[in-house]
Amino acid sequence: MKISKLKKEAEKELQKIFNLKDLNAWHKKYFGKKGEVSLIFSSLKEMKEKERKKKGEEVNFAKKELKELFLKKKRGLAKGTKVSAPETIDVTRPGKKVERGHLHPLTLIQREALHIFESMGFEVALGPEIETEWYNFDALNFKKNHPARDVHDTFWIDSKKRILLRTHTSPVQVRFMEKHNPPLKIVIPGRVFRNEATDSSHEADFWQLEGLMVSKEVSCSNFKAIIETFLERFFRKDVEIRLRPGYFPFTEPSFEIDAKLGKAKWLELMGAGMVHPNVFKASGLNPEDWQGFAFGVGLDRLAMIKYKIKDMRLFRQNDLRFLKQF
Ligand code: PHE
Repeated sequence: MKISKLKKEAEKELQKIFNLKDLNAWHKKYFGKKGEVSLIFSSLKEMKEKERKKKGEEVNFAKKELKELFLKKKRGLAKGTKVSAPETIDVTRPGKKVERGHLHPLTLIQREALHIFESMGFEVALGPEIETEWYNFDALNFKKNHPARDVHDTFWIDSKKRILLRTHTSPVQVRFMEKHNPPLKIVIPGRVFRNEATDSSHEADFWQLEGLMVSKEVSCSNFKAIIETFLERFFRKDVEIRLRPGYFPFTEPSFEIDAKLGKAKWLELMGAGMVHPNVFKASGLNPEDWQGFAFGVGLDRLAMIKYKIKDMRLFRQNDLRFLKQF
């Protein structure tokens, strides 16, 4: 028989094989001692040298291809893969499960917080993470050599040009007011940096959410109402808040805000205050014309309270056992 015809036949038969027993019989039929392929090989002996060489190559090639098909089939059967004809694919078999990622807990918290403020008419504003000393400190009424500067242990990028990694999101207040006239209501999410040792409640790199509301008449009670509404919606609990006197150079008066969520005990939550006249001036606004409040809260802190997480560092370790819970 001609090798090409033999090969075709062998391939056809192979396609119809779905178990190992038939496969072994097939192998014996073609590759056994007295198998078809072996017979063709022995018939080569009778040929003339030139013809033998040519045919020999052809047969060898066909043999190699058939062997490969055989091995492929064998592997398929061993794996239990369906090797039946494609039209009989079993569509009811469950597929392979693809692992899907999801958003990081801090991203979820940030989105949720922004969403609540947006529903109360606040716009989202952003600013640079690399900041100048002017926006991060001077424009916010931090006096030169004032100890408040040292409280923010700063990562200097270029101490000659006075360029730094922002230590808080408050510089964006000034950047925004330079470009937009009040009345305004904005929230500023962002990454901030402080050169300090980390522990369960401190990170050198964390997220803040800043708020700023400015108009002709904004009072502390506006602030209290807005922040209470925010906290109640964010924590889905009854919230009581109390304002304690605090100190920030860019607000006057300044407060520390404590909150009591449901029946839990009081927690220190954020800093806030009425925008200092010098901040309006630095932003090109007349402090006689405008009033406003500002607040800044750590998003990590909000997330820790909401999800009852004891160690802030967990957010940065990217341990899937932690992340998968959100
Ligand atoms: N920027 C302050 C901080 O990082 C928080 C704050 C913002 C306080 C706005 C008052 C008003 O600690």
